[in-house]
Amino acid sequence: MIDRETVDRIYAAANIVDIIGEYVTLKRKGVNYQACCPFHNEKTPSFVVSPSKGVYKCFGCGKGGNAVTFLMEHENITYPEALKMVAKRYGIEVKEKEMTEEEVRRNDDRESMFALNGWAAEYFANYLHRETEGQSVGLAYFRQKRGMTDATIRKFGLGFCPAKGDRMSKDALAAGYKQEFLVSTGLSLQRESDGSLYDRFRDRVIFPVHNISGRIVAFGGRTLRTDKQVAKYQNSPESEIYSKKRELYGLYFAKKAIQQQDFAIMVEGYTDVISMHQAGVENVVSSSGTSLTTEQIRLLNRFTKNITVIYDGDSAGIHASLRGIDMILKEGMNVRVVLLPEPEDPDSFARSHTASELQEYIRANEQDFLEFKAKLLLQDAEGDPIRKAALIADMVQSVSVIPDPIQRSVYIKECARIMDIDEQILISEVARKRMTTSGDRETDEFLRRQTTLRQREAQQPGVEFVKQVEAGSSFETLEREIVKYLLKYGHCSFDFKEGRTMVACNVAEVIFSELSDDNIAFRNPVYNKIMAAYREQWAQLGTGVEVPAHVFLNHIDPEVCNMSVDILTSDDNYVASELWRRKEIHIDTDAEMLAVGVPKAVTLYKSKVIEALIKELQGRLGDENISDEEMRDVVQRLTAYNQVKVTIANKIQRLIL
Ligand code: CTP
Ligand code: MN
Repeated sequence: MIDRETVDRIYAAANIVDIIGEYVTLKRKGVNYQACCPFHNEKTPSFVVSPSKGVYKCFGCGKGGNAVTFLMEHENITYPEALKMVAKRYGIEVKEKEMTEEEVRRNDDRESMFALNGWAAEYFANYLHRETEGQSVGLAYFRQKRGMTDATIRKFGLGFCPAKGDRMSKDALAAGYKQEFLVSTGLSLQRESDGSLYDRFRDRVIFPVHNISGRIVAFGGRTLRTDKQVAKYQNSPESEIYSKKRELYGLYFAKKAIQQQDFAIMVEGYTDVISMHQAGVENVVSSSGTSLTTEQIRLLNRFTKNITVIYDGDSAGIHASLRGIDMILKEGMNVRVVLLPEPEDPDSFARSHTASELQEYIRANEQDFLEFKAKLLLQDAEGDPIRKAALIADMVQSVSVIPDPIQRSVYIKECARIMDIDEQILISEVARKRMTTSGDRETDEFLRRQTTLRQREAQQPGVEFVKQVEAGSSFETLEREIVKYLLKYGHCSFDFKEGRTMVACNVAEVIFSELSDDNIAFRNPVYNKIMAAYREQWAQLGTGVEVPAHVFLNHIDPEVCNMSVDILTSDDNYVASELWRRKEIHIDTDAEMLAVGVPKAVTLYKSKVIEALIKELQGRLGDENISDEEMRDVVQRLTAYNQVKVTIANKIQRLIL
């Protein structure tokens, strides 16, 4: 457990724009920042970060929270882990109390694997730099064969795993690391015969794989033997901390440059990434030899919409990879392609050229992907009408997945020109393709949401209306409604009608008294926590004082924090003002709105509670084993409740009409 004081200091230090900016490119928009949501797939940004409130919220998928809960969600770590991550960033010392057994267990596996990988990376690097074998075999290779500088070798944490088959495993065990994690990280393999361990990466140079936040999730090991029987690379297996399809090699080192230059370069392998970095081109990542996955594209999509794929001049893989690139288009990204002159690959090309030559070559030679594909296929189909028909179908497929209609029509024109066919034919083919693949519904949904967002922005900031709940709403809806009034307007006063007199009251007072007088607690425990937190604030600050939103938004209890972010940033307000307008209720001030809304929400809720109680009592009456005494009690209470119900019903009538 981290003590309260430290937690407060961590929250005070956390700069949400800084922290989230590590993971997505945030664009300033007025007082807020915007980005495409890292938690769901989207093409237009609906993820908003408010530095003043210290919160983020995605209006697309609904996720929201503060800097700490962002890290929890994104890094898939626990609350204390996230707090520690922020603390570390801002140099705050964390004094910890004992963790519970449960916390220890939950943390342990992943953490142990990360710790072991961290140890192993250091071990391999030390072995490379300090041991004779490492120096003469590994270091010599990196320096002489690959032309790497020592700074580059250090930056990427390159290393060497001893040739002696089990040396690393033995050293790891001796250093106190458990066999279990040596096996689960894949650093060691286990002999079936006697269960003994040996090193997966023995006698290989090592490339550690960092995840987006810089932790080592895996390794790649390259053999230096030319023997064709030996696989050139060995890679860590999938594990609790490593999913190959979700990582991009080099992204951790490239993300800043990708943001700054607003494009990412895709290359094939580890060495391509490293050589380009060394040459001064740092916005480079690799999908490590496999074709790109949707997850990887979305990872990049957070930083930029522009991808340039570099192919070796003789790359046999170009045809095979075309389909993979369609997928990038589908994610709404712009893809360009650069072919290197034969027989270069990015690694060799980067080594024989300066950064500016490299950049200039890319700029001068990059082609739009679809144009590239059309030309390539056209070459193949030269003079063969059947293959040309197949080519057209192929291009139609590629164009039809592009989500943006304007971009689509530009491509259609371009393709018609390159392939020398009628544009109208292409247009209708693409339209037909889209109709049969249902992708359009998604596009429409996007446009609709965009329009809503824009309309909302255009609205004059004036009185905020809160959506009116209707009779028959669920417990959850009504409870949320009440809590929303509390959070948004708790200290605001309005005229509350008590019998025949009008009393000026605070929203929170009305809510507290109406509910606690009748001993009502919410069904949703988080709402009760928020109520309690509000009372606690008033106890400290004085009744009726405005409780700043950040108290809830940055609350120590993540449930309170998440719920209040959710409530305070929800879309309801826009919808609500529409509702009010349709009913043609003229309301000019918060107080007028509250005078209608608060009593209505509270009363509807109480009526719901009473109804539930009555139902329960009626159920008891039907019980065969009920004693006479109990029966009398139940009947008495039923009568009383029914009276209350009538009173409430009358009140609702008055409130609604
Ligand atoms: N790869 C792999 N397993 C293999 C071969 C390749 O995992 N047996 C992956 C590696 O991530 C490698 C990438 O595919 O970086 C590209 O393969 P290749 O071009 O053959 O390797 P390079 O990284 O270019 O290595 P080198 O230049 O040393 O040959
Ligand atoms: Mn290579």
